[in-house]
Amino acid sequence: MRQRRTIPRLIGSLLLVATAGVGCGEATADSRYAGTGTDGKAAAAAEPEVRPLGRIVPVPASVTPEGEPYTLTRATRIGVDSASRESKALGRYLAGLLRPATGFPLPVVDEAGARGGIRLRLSPGDTALGDEGYRLRSGPGGVTLTAREPAGLFRGVQTLRQQLPSAVERNSVQAGPWKIAGGTITDTPRYAYRGAMLDVARHFFTVDEVKRYIDQLALYKINTLHLHLSDDQGWRIAVDSWPRLTTYGGSTEVGGGPGGFYTKEEYREIVRYAASRYQEVIPEIDLPGHTNAALASYAELNCDGVAPPLYTGIKVGFSSLCVPKPVTYDFVDDVIREIAALTPGRYLHIGGDEAHSTSHADYVTFMDKVQPLVAKYGKKVVGWHQLTGTKPAEGALVQYWGLDRTPAAEKERVAAAARNGTGLVLSPADRSYLDMKYTKDTPLGLAWAGYVEVRRSYDWDPATYLPGAPADSVRGVEAPLWTETLATMDDLDVMAFPRLPGIAELGWSPASTHDWETYKVRLAEQAPRFEAMGIDYYRSPQVPWPGE
Ligand code: ACM
Repeated sequence: MRQRRTIPRLIGSLLLVATAGVGCGEATADSRYAGTGTDGKAAAAAEPEVRPLGRIVPVPASVTPEGEPYTLTRATRIGVDSASRESKALGRYLAGLLRPATGFPLPVVDEAGARGGIRLRLSPGDTALGDEGYRLRSGPGGVTLTAREPAGLFRGVQTLRQQLPSAVERNSVQAGPWKIAGGTITDTPRYAYRGAMLDVARHFFTVDEVKRYIDQLALYKINTLHLHLSDDQGWRIAVDSWPRLTTYGGSTEVGGGPGGFYTKEEYREIVRYAASRYQEVIPEIDLPGHTNAALASYAELNCDGVAPPLYTGIKVGFSSLCVPKPVTYDFVDDVIREIAALTPGRYLHIGGDEAHSTSHADYVTFMDKVQPLVAKYGKKVVGWHQLTGTKPAEGALVQYWGLDRTPAAEKERVAAAARNGTGLVLSPADRSYLDMKYTKDTPLGLAWAGYVEVRRSYDWDPATYLPGAPADSVRGVEAPLWTETLATMDDLDVMAFPRLPGIAELGWSPASTHDWETYKVRLAEQAPRFEAMGIDYYRSPQVPWPGE
């Protein structure tokens, strides 16, 4: 089934590389790609000793190759601003990334002692770099990463990491050499919101599994982790005032497995870990539909006072909180209060999708009462785009998950909200949903939004995607990963990869760099990195994978 790619075709594609500011003449395919791999793997054999500057995902905004590479050696030191706790933590993080495969000690020292090494430099006056931008300068005399904020240094570290051979991701000592191409990258993100969502409700994923996903997201400069924490099949976050939500409502999942939930301390641990990767966690409690797990846990939340059984199937749209009952708002107030208190981020996602068992009038009543509760506890609302069926609160973001075939009137309702100041996060289901099958032969996933091959998921422009929505209403993009059919980390890997890096690039890289023909080559070059990181991925025939 997998189409074979010939070497001449690969070389032909390489010569097309022309990202913003990248001179491609210097990096000819024959000199860079004809080497023999150290471990005999086809993918490794395709890697150059020096990855051309900027040939990474997401592609940087500005790349100026110049001079000779830097070579990381046993003597390399990592220099930080020792007065800054965050700077020191970033130095330790970088050393921790590089030590296992290089086997080098990489001491983290004050900047002054890092001559000839890798320096992480905070430069508060460098306003052009914004909140997440960075500059990387590399040459034989050292590598300097400069950023206005620690988040920018963190993003720059991901660039530095991707410039090194993929073997740097391995857990045991590898041969090297460890070279970083010479020149300057200056890079800032296109969008402030670059998200990924993980559905831990349909199948539960442990804290360690979520951390692994966070680390994968970090490599592609994702800065927002949206956790879908409740649904018909399970409630996954402890709420002290309503303990049966987890002890009972969290006790199963799709297919009838044991489910699970996060204690408050475990959730805080996820939030802390995400923060260490400069990701903001947005918790979602899906309301008023998608609530069977809550309704099963507390009879009084049901209009008829009768708790339904737990649910382990994959239907949607059959459950609703009881909009007329006052206890519903006591419940929602408690849940929002407790989750807001655990969450340092700015946002709380209240769902609002597929409320097919709630009348429109009830939906409006419910959202008009619930949105102010989010503000009461100091957070801003995020909702799925059905929230535009009522008035989104001041400062709200709506997450558009429609399809090409979504009725024009529905698209226009969202666009009108955007014209009125509501921010948009774009997650078109037939582009960015990582759980959609790639083709009819994909064993996992769903297909209600159609098949989403790699090119389709990458090849769209967030700024012009929704007709009538002003470009500046688009705050960014998000790739949701729903887990009705996904139960293991391998399942997540093969659906997220390789589409996730493409959505990450849509969020980060300037529109001017958007080009499938060059993107697919850079994506193919990620394959040995996926392999080194133990990430299973779909070998799309659209991508010229090395060795195929
Ligand atoms: C959704 O896919 N129901 C947001």
